Amino acid sequence: MQNVRKLGEDTWYIGANDRKISLFEGVYPLENGISYNSYVILDEKTVLMDTADEAVSRIFMENLAGVLNGRALDIIVINHMEPDHCAALGLVLQKYPEAKLFGTMQVKNLIAQFHGTDVTDRFTAVKENDTLSTGRHQLRFFTAPMVHWPEVMVTYDETDHVLYSADAFGLFGALSGNLYADTCSLWTEGLSEARRYYTNIVGRYGMQVQALLKKASALDISMICPLHGPVIRRDFGYYIDLYDKWSRYAYEDNAVAIFYGSIYGGTENACEILAAHLAEKGIRDIRLYDVARTHFSYLVAEAFRCQALVFAAPTKDAALFPPMELLLTEIKHKGLAGRTVGLIENGSWGPMAGKLMGAYFENLKDIDMLSKTVTIRSAMNEAGREELAAMAEEIAGKLLP
Ligand SMILES: Cc1cc2nc3c(=O)[nH]c(=O)nc-3n(C[C@H](O)[C@H](O)[C@H](O)COP(=O)(O)O)c2cc1C
Ligand SMILES: [Fe+2]
Ligand SMILES: [Fe+2]
Repeated sequence: MQNVRKLGEDTWYIGANDRKISLFEGVYPLENGISYNSYVILDEKTVLMDTADEAVSRIFMENLAGVLNGRALDIIVINHMEPDHCAALGLVLQKYPEAKLFGTMQVKNLIAQFHGTDVTDRFTAVKENDTLSTGRHQLRFFTAPMVHWPEVMVTYDETDHVLYSADAFGLFGALSGNLYADTCSLWTEGLSEARRYYTNIVGRYGMQVQALLKKASALDISMICPLHGPVIRRDFGYYIDLYDKWSRYAYEDNAVAIFYGSIYGGTENACEILAAHLAEKGIRDIRLYDVARTHFSYLVAEAFRCQALVFAAPTKDAALFPPMELLLTEIKHKGLAGRTVGLIENGSWGPMAGKLMGAYFENLKDIDMLSKTVTIRSAMNEAGREELAAMAEEIAGKLLP
C-alpha cells in the first residue's frame, strides 16, 4: 500500500525507511535505520527525483505508481548514482521505458555499470546551470562533484524555490511519520547522528561542500529536500552554519576527546588520570573513548566536534594497536585540520606508538601538537603522573579563555 506525502501544490515525497539495515555502506552501524528519500513533481510533465535503495524498492515502486495514478513518467532526474538512491532505478527503467533521463555526464556510464543498461537514446547530459522546463516548474542544475561521488549534482526548482540537495543535509536515522526537520527531533536531539553522517560520509570533501554552499547561498530557498532524513523548510541558518563549520573542519566545542586503546589497563589508567587533571583545571566537556569498543564512525564525529584530541595507545609488535590505527587512518583520510593534538604512548620494552601516531598528523593542516609525548613503560608511576599533569595544563591553556 502506497505511503506518499504531499510537499507542495504538485510535489510529493515518495521515499521509504529501512529499519532492518544494521550497517550502512557495509560499515557504519545504524541505531535507528535510515530513510531513502525520493520526490515526484506532477507538472505538465511528470518528474521523478532520484529513486531508492533495493531494500525499500517494493514500497518505493508502489509509491511511485500510486502518486502517478495512471499518468506516464516523463522525466527522471538523477542527482546521485550511488546504489542507496539508484538500486531501484533498474526497476523504474523497465517499468517506464518512455521516461527520459537527466543527469551529469558520468551518470550514463554509471547506469551501464550498475544496471547493465544502455540508456543512450533516452539520456540527456546536463551541465552546470542548465535548465529544464516541465510546465509550471523550471528546474536548474548545479554540479556538486564529490559531495559524495563525482557525478553528483543538485537540482533547484526555481518556481517553488526547492533545493533537491542529494546527500547534502542528510542524516542517519529513519523518519517516523513527521517529515519536516522542524516537526521531528532528528536534527536537534540527534545532532550527533547528523554529525556522524556528515563526517563519515561526506567529511573528506570539505572543499567541495564549501563550493556547494557558495552556490546555494545565491539561491532563494524555501525548502531543502535531501536524499536522507527530514525535509528542511525553516531555520536554514542552523543547518547551513553546521555544514559550513563541518566543511571548514572547524571544531564546535571547547572540548577534549581522549581516544585510548589498552591491553592490560595501563594506558587506560593514564587517560583516566589525564581526564581528572583536565577536570581539576576547569574543563567541563571531556570524553574518554575506548577505541576497541566504540565504532570508529562515532569517534570520527567526535574528532570533528572537539577542539583538543588526545590519542593514547600501547605498542603492539612494534606497531600500533589495530583499532587506533583504523581511527587515525580515518581521521587522516578526512583531512581533519585545526586541532590541538596530544599523544600518550605505552610499551614495556620499546615504545613506538607515539612516533607512529604522530606520523598521521604530519600532512594535516594547522595541527597544534602538544610539546611532549607522554611515555609510559608498562604501568603508571609518579613521573608519568607529573607528565600528565603538565599535559593537562598545556591543554587547558589552549582551551580556556
Ligand atoms: C601482542 C603484544 C605485542 C607487544 N609488542 C610490544 C612492542 O613491540 N613494544 C613494546 O614496547 N611493548 C610491546 N607490548 C607490550 C605492551 O605495549 C605494554 O605491556 C604496554 O604497557 C601495555 O599497555 P596497557 O596496559 O595499556 O595494555 C606488546 C604487548 C602485546 C600483548
Ligand atoms: Fe551517497
Ligand atoms: Fe546517500
